[in-house]
Amino acid sequence: MKNLKNQNILITGAGRGIGRLMALNFASHGSHLVLLDIDGEAIEKVAAQVRQSNVATWCYRCDVSDREMIYAVADKIKAEVGKIDILVNNAGIVTGKAFLDCTDTEVQRTMDINIMAHFWMLRAFLPPMIDTDHGHIVSIASAAGWVGTNSLADYCASKFATVGLDESIRMELRKKNIQGVKTTLVCPFYIDTGMFAGVKTRFPRLLPILNEDKVARKIVQAVKKDRAVLKMPWIVYTVPMLRLLPVKMFDWVADFLGVSSTMDEFVGRKN
Ligand SMILES: NC(=O)c1ccc[n+]([C@@H]2O[C@H](COP(=O)([O-])OP(=O)(O)OC[C@H]3O[C@@H](n4cnc5c(N)ncnc54)[C@H](O)[C@@H]3O)[C@@H](O)[C@H]2O)c1
Repeated sequence: MKNLKNQNILITGAGRGIGRLMALNFASHGSHLVLLDIDGEAIEKVAAQVRQSNVATWCYRCDVSDREMIYAVADKIKAEVGKIDILVNNAGIVTGKAFLDCTDTEVQRTMDINIMAHFWMLRAFLPPMIDTDHGHIVSIASAAGWVGTNSLADYCASKFATVGLDESIRMELRKKNIQGVKTTLVCPFYIDTGMFAGVKTRFPRLLPILNEDKVARKIVQAVKKDRAVLKMPWIVYTVPMLRLLPVKMFDWVADFLGVSSTMDEFVGRKN
């Protein structure tokens, strides 16, 4: 089990949802927190809660869709905090519209936040981890990184890309024999944070809408155990095997499980 005490953990999108809950959970293990979010007020509130665990906390307002802002904030963090031990690329958004109803701007923003930001954050914070042979990259993807879904084309594309980026980084680290830098890819089905408000599941026992506290706890446990991949619920692990089926049958299974209609009543966040 990895000891998280006194580790500097940077979380993007830490202002609410699982980003916030991971911050609180990491703090309970004695980790120091570097909180990033586009919503500066939200991370200040999270920081006030985190500090109750007597850990150091820094807040940086950062729009991760803006590469230059990421690099400027990263320089500040390196000067003010020092080395980041664990980077959690978590910030994400969803448009939730049919492909042709999405505007160009919406598609671009989804890709910028959900995947391009991972590249820029990695370019800023991975080199010191490699130099010291110590670090951990946590990539929050989704079950939508394994199955294409109705009304989620931009979102699924960004999450499939996240899965590919994580695996490639893991392979590169292995090839260079960098054993002290670990990676964890996280692929949950829908979570009750409000991001996907309105989504429905046909078989709640098989494909439950996940509880945000439980998800955050499991992610922290996965980091402690250096787990390479965490999928939730267990049925998400079976997707690569289902892909051995002919495409028509795979699509039928997705329809039967209700995956293709989960987004039919999606409303998302109101703010
Ligand atoms: N909620 C789900 O059902 C679900 C399921 C699977 C995966 N995920 C993924 O988990 C991650 C967190 O989701 P959540 O449900 O906690 O979402 P959320 O909407 O509750 O929180 C997202 C956070 O990201 C921040 N953010 C948004 N745009 C940003 C930007 N440009 N720059 C910086 N911060 C920004 C928001 O302010 C917010 O604090 C996302 O990557 C999401 O895709 C969510």
